[in-house]
Amino acid sequence: MAKAVAEVLRLAVMFVMAAILLQIPIFSGLLRLSGFHDACQHCRGSSSAASPSHEQLQVDPESGGNGSIRAIPQSRKLQPVGRAQYPFILFSVYRYALNTFFVIGETSLVVRAFEHDKPVYDCEWSPMLANGTVSDSRTLTQAHMIYVKFDENGMGYGPALVNCTFNESIGSDGLGGVLRLHVARGPYRGDKFTVEDVLHEGARTPASAARKVSTYAFCGPPMYGTIKARWIQHWLAYHVFLWKADVHFYFYNIGGFKTAEDYQVVEPYVKAGLLTLIEIESTAIEDFPAWYKHQLVFINDCIHRTRTAGHSWSFFNDFDELLYFSPPHTVESLIRDHPQAAWMTFANMPASSGHCAVREESRWPLERLMWHNKVPECMKAERDPWMCTGSQGRRKYMVNPSKVFSSGVHRISIPEEGGVDLNGSVARVIHFHGVLSSGSNVCGIPVNMSHSKQVDDLTNRYDFDQSLSDAVSCHDTDFVLLSNTIYQVVLAED
Ligand SMILES: *[C@@H]1O[C@H](CO)[C@@H](O)[C@H](O)[C@H]1NC(C)=O
Ligand SMILES: *[C@@H]1O[C@H](CO)[C@@H](O)[C@H](O)[C@H]1NC(C)=O
Ligand SMILES: *[C@@H]1O[C@H](CO)[C@@H](O)[C@H](O)[C@H]1NC(C)=O
Ligand SMILES: *[C@@H]1O[C@H](CO)[C@@H](O)[C@H](O)[C@H]1NC(C)=O
Ligand SMILES: *[C@@H]1O[C@H](CO)[C@@H](O)[C@H](O)[C@H]1NC(C)=O
Ligand SMILES: *[C@@H]1O[C@H](CO)[C@@H](O)[C@H](O)[C@H]1NC(C)=O
Repeated sequence: MAKAVAEVLRLAVMFVMAAILLQIPIFSGLLRLSGFHDACQHCRGSSSAASPSHEQLQVDPESGGNGSIRAIPQSRKLQPVGRAQYPFILFSVYRYALNTFFVIGETSLVVRAFEHDKPVYDCEWSPMLANGTVSDSRTLTQAHMIYVKFDENGMGYGPALVNCTFNESIGSDGLGGVLRLHVARGPYRGDKFTVEDVLHEGARTPASAARKVSTYAFCGPPMYGTIKARWIQHWLAYHVFLWKADVHFYFYNIGGFKTAEDYQVVEPYVKAGLLTLIEIESTAIEDFPAWYKHQLVFINDCIHRTRTAGHSWSFFNDFDELLYFSPPHTVESLIRDHPQAAWMTFANMPASSGHCAVREESRWPLERLMWHNKVPECMKAERDPWMCTGSQGRRKYMVNPSKVFSSGVHRISIPEEGGVDLNGSVARVIHFHGVLSSGSNVCGIPVNMSHSKQVDDLTNRYDFDQSLSDAVSCHDTDFVLLSNTIYQVVLAED
């Protein structure tokens, strides 16, 4: 018994001590909570006894108001706590000139709203020494933040470039070095951070200079979720043919390619030196929301990557889009016609991926997909859909990476001028929307070409267009030859 009393006393002392330590707020908090509780009961017509806190909730008769607070503060302030909004997210660094580097990354769009407060304020270079260690010497220069214009919805983070131009040549010994960015956040730059990337440059040896660089480069969209490997295989074969194998494919894999079967599709191309699979660590991808799994940062990375690699033209269509030039036009003839162009854009022609002509002899779905919309996509009705430019036409493009610094999904950001918008009747992507999504059934609707009713119904909605099919069928032998060439290169190297 005495033990129990002692225990109760001990608890009481502890409670009082805790209350003193916590300086009463916990009491008033409790009171407020109980007051709230009573008030609710009161509203429901309960006759519970009034408590001291209940009085606080009663209307002050002199205020004449309907609230329970005697004086509503006339001034308020925003009081941020915690951390949010990364001022800069580094993705990659490329050399542009002997004294200039471009850094590709993202910024929080909230941070970006403070145009005056560019978060990356300095670039710093430390050269690599011949023995592979990083020198202590540091060269500083002011960073130029470029907030890239982009055309897809914001989602928290958007693309940004940093132009680090030093007033002298940097790393001209070809040994590489470390580029550091000094980043600050907060309106008074209270928090300072450094992020760095190592450039393994290597001197240009005659052997590497002699390696042939393909004229064209393809920059792929982020590969995530479930990738339909068989479709990608056909897509690859078609584009290898289109660019006559004078192309290098850069695929950005964020977990879409994962099974042995997936890798088998690209393996011959990788071994033939036609394809680079860039593996992106997917852990951080979801941490900062950005349009379509950070597509914009990959687009901008690829522009600088393909310039550095020495390609002349880089293409940016998606895997559900097949590039098409109507004869007699070809990609070569268009480049010949527009020798000064920094970029060229193509119309976007939606097509049905479900309707397929029944053709026993065909091997490729591309030979049986023949129905597309009557005019290219244009989100503005009064515009000529064949020339509907920019985001409204959901156009895709090719850029000369030594003239273009930055792009959005459907528009060129830097430079906005100096390019050519091609008529959709000359150049377009044929867009089999959704063909890669798991639910879609490519060629799910067989079309019997001698069944006139079915064909007529389709013709009301779509244009019948055999051009893609012809391109594939006529060149079926080319496809086989090309794939044989690819396999032969692989065999020769094995
Ligand atoms: C208090 O509320 C009543 C009923 O909504 C309203 O008629 C009256 O004007 C209010 N008084 C004041 C001072 O806002
Ligand atoms: C590398 O070379 C530098 C300069 O010659 C020297 O100071 C440094 O100790 C070397 N480091 C190692 C690990 O050899
Ligand atoms: C990079 O910045 C330097 C220094 O401000 C400027 O002269 C140069 O034109 C910039 N380069 C590009 C490609 O924007
Ligand atoms: C380059 O910049 C540094 C630091 O701003 C300065 O000390 C140096 O004099 C500059 N050199 C030239 C050649 O302008
Ligand atoms: C683009 O091509 C379409 C279809 O051939 C044609 O009707 C249209 O006049 C062309 N537009 C321009 C601006 O050349
Ligand atoms: C295609 O349609 C024609 C005419 O309706 C019919 O005679 C023929 O059997 C059909 N073929 C197939 C494979 O369904």
